[in-house]
Amino acid sequence: MSDRLFIFDTTLRDGEQVPGCQLNTIEKIQVARQLEALGVDVIEAGFPVSSPGDFNSVIEISKAVTWPTICALTRAVERDIDVAAEALQYAKRKRIHTGIGTSDSHIKYKFNSNREEIIERAVAAVKYARRYVEDVEFYAEDAGRTDNEYLARVVEAVIRAGATVVNIPDTTGYCLPAEYGEKIKYLVEHVDNIDRAIISTHCHNDLGMATANTISGVLNGARQVEVTINGIGERAGNTSLEEVAMILKCHNNIPIETNINTTKIYPTSRMVSSLMNMPVQPNKAIVGKNAFAHSSGIHQDGVLKNVQTYEIINPRDVGIDDNAIVLTARSGRAALRNRLDSLGVTLSQEKLDQVYEEFLRLADKKKEINDDDVLVLAGAERSLNHRIKLDYLQVTSGVGVQSVASIGLNISGEKFEDCASGNGPVDAAIKALKKIINRQMTLKEFTIQAISKGSDDVGKVHMQVEYDNHNYYGFGANTDIIAASVEAYIDCINKFK
Ligand code: KIV
Ligand code: ZN
Repeated sequence: MSDRLFIFDTTLRDGEQVPGCQLNTIEKIQVARQLEALGVDVIEAGFPVSSPGDFNSVIEISKAVTWPTICALTRAVERDIDVAAEALQYAKRKRIHTGIGTSDSHIKYKFNSNREEIIERAVAAVKYARRYVEDVEFYAEDAGRTDNEYLARVVEAVIRAGATVVNIPDTTGYCLPAEYGEKIKYLVEHVDNIDRAIISTHCHNDLGMATANTISGVLNGARQVEVTINGIGERAGNTSLEEVAMILKCHNNIPIETNINTTKIYPTSRMVSSLMNMPVQPNKAIVGKNAFAHSSGIHQDGVLKNVQTYEIINPRDVGIDDNAIVLTARSGRAALRNRLDSLGVTLSQEKLDQVYEEFLRLADKKKEINDDDVLVLAGAERSLNHRIKLDYLQVTSGVGVQSVASIGLNISGEKFEDCASGNGPVDAAIKALKKIINRQMTLKEFTIQAISKGSDDVGKVHMQVEYDNHNYYGFGANTDIIAASVEAYIDCINKFK
């Protein structure tokens, strides 16, 4: 008989902590509903005490989804736990995730404390959380660098205090797979009451070992994994959900099952990437653009003879449909709605009509509309409420001449225009923009996402602009890459506090 592995998704908490990946509540609900359709068991919806936005998102996600347990993060602090319990009030199944650092460096430098006092604080937090909910998960932050004997004492004490799940995070992504597996095995063998709780993995990818460590933890007794879509998360990210799910599906000699509907993996990946403006690296396992592309002659020859020669996963198993209907200017609303559905986006009739109008405009400019275009169109209303909007942009540039740009902005209904010359068209356009928005702002990062198919494709620009000692992240998408760059800059400016 196979064991059940619980999938705990933290895209909306650990994933959302990434600079520039912040979502508004409506977008979080959209992702949470998609995670429910994907079949995750637990959704970590936020850290309610950290901001009113996080608090509100936990409330709204709790109302919006039915089956998954909704989890809220706290520190081992009573006020955090009070606020988390309040945010979880509408959840049909609820969990409080509380914890404290247990490695010697956390104990000494973060808490200026000692091992015994940390155990007392951990126990008190779990007991306090149990006053509100029956399901309490405890995290031993930096467990990856915590001495196993002490970790076992902490784990035993929190289970005695009522913890139902014990999370063993490799917070810094330091462990080797064998070492992390040994740690889980040590807990299984040395914690007397371990049968009263589920052991959870939570691995970061600083050394590229997050998935390997997670699988090693599972093979040694963990029965919950904490993961994110596309592996997004702090620094180098978290373990990616799609990798764990597909490893277990491909290696069917491992007697462990999840509830994941793998055909929803690709649409979920596209949705998260698009809403968070976070491109997926082309060679990313399972969901990267090249994950199923065979380019060398030898590989193509083998695949044509028998697909199993070089393919261990059927792309359809992860929801990639090569035969999907191609969308063009002649496609109707039904075809567009169908594609949006398969990408996990549900729109009201009114919104669909608006997106369809935009779709036709784009389809006039380019021959085929791909999934990324559709997601960009569906998310376009994010800029509708912007105070500053791009009215027009005209640029002349060429080889051996200075680029010149003139720009028109609509600021709260009033029109402004200016022009500038620059070192290339983007520089000229941004200089013209800065003449109207006269503030001390510095462009820190500028990424143009590769055009995937033709020269008429929509180009996407991600930007980071520093203003008043804060970094702001913006996004623009347009068939004209100069316009996309200016839109991204304006997106940043609209976020200035
Ligand atoms: O990486 C980590 O240790 C965490 C905890 C807060 C669970 O994200
Ligand atoms: Zn983490």
